Amino acid sequence: MEKKNIDWANIGFGYHTTDKRFVSNYKNGAWDDGVLTEDANIVLNECAGVLQYAQTIFEGLKAYTTEDGHIVTFRPDLNAQRMVDSAKFLEMPPFPADRFVEAVVETVKANAAYVPPYGSGATLYIRPYMFGSNPVIGVKPADEYQFRVFTTPVGPYFKGGAQPITIKVSDYDRAAPHGTGHIKAGLNYAMSLHAIVTAHAEGFDENMYLDAATRTKVEETGGANFIFVTKDNKIVTPHSSSILPSITRRSLIHVAKEYLGLEVEEREVYFDEVKDFAECGLCGTAAVISPVGKIYDHGNEICFPSGMDAMGPITQKLYDTLTGIQMGRIKAPEGWIKVIE
Ligand SMILES: Cc1ncc(COP(=O)(O)O)c(C=O)c1O
Repeated sequence: MEKKNIDWANIGFGYHTTDKRFVSNYKNGAWDDGVLTEDANIVLNECAGVLQYAQTIFEGLKAYTTEDGHIVTFRPDLNAQRMVDSAKFLEMPPFPADRFVEAVVETVKANAAYVPPYGSGATLYIRPYMFGSNPVIGVKPADEYQFRVFTTPVGPYFKGGAQPITIKVSDYDRAAPHGTGHIKAGLNYAMSLHAIVTAHAEGFDENMYLDAATRTKVEETGGANFIFVTKDNKIVTPHSSSILPSITRRSLIHVAKEYLGLEVEEREVYFDEVKDFAECGLCGTAAVISPVGKIYDHGNEICFPSGMDAMGPITQKLYDTLTGIQMGRIKAPEGWIKVIE
């Protein structure tokens, strides 16, 4: 199959329309079979549930080419399950997890010409999502829904190596206790926009959110979970019921324990302890791990010993091992790599 003539190294992280997308509709209590379509546009009633009351959830994962030339995705079953959990919490009918994986596979296959070659650093980003589609004026769940999967090629997250970033402790809250922080609902991202635009305007790369109730514990950023490394090489990662259960974080915990023999603590992490850690990173699908060099907290700076030039040594080992597993250079645990073709 001939690849599209795309400058993979320079496409950046933006939306480029690809050939096909998957669409399935939910009506009268059932999901239809779904189809692949060339139409990238959606026509909705002006009163559709998603437009009025933000009843929408999504997922994000990547397809890429491994060292031996296969197109694969990484643990799509976990994205499928997380979307089921998100749907239940927003009173939406879950799209069945096995059908989610099939839809991802079908959509990637139909757009295989857009899957970047091995070694380019670029990937095909996959965006499954669903929303309430029928008119709703009183505040209640919609009766009809649409589930879709589209893909878009995205460039290497780090051009020329992962440079440590500077983040700030946000004055805003991301998620309330017992709220929607643990699901991937569009509304969580809408309310983070003011906070991230403000942080960028102040010269910071990201926000660190603390727990909304006490503002003493580390939660996550707008799009990634935290991992810390102690001075004696233990991995510490925040446990909270109001953060998104990152698939990358869960995978890194396994890698740390089973591949690198490191001790891992998943627990509440008080902001007061952060100054004592040796390394800090943000983990998520987009970058796998972005190293954090500095945290700014209302006039005080925490500078990690790993510095502003490169990833810390343990972060680098975690990054190299997980990306090695993803790219087929290191043997993956059973079921982690879904071969598409
Ligand atoms: C709020 C938030 N936390 C964490 C993550 C990382 O999750 P994952 O590793 O599953 O991409 C994401 C990205 O999906 C996110 O949006």
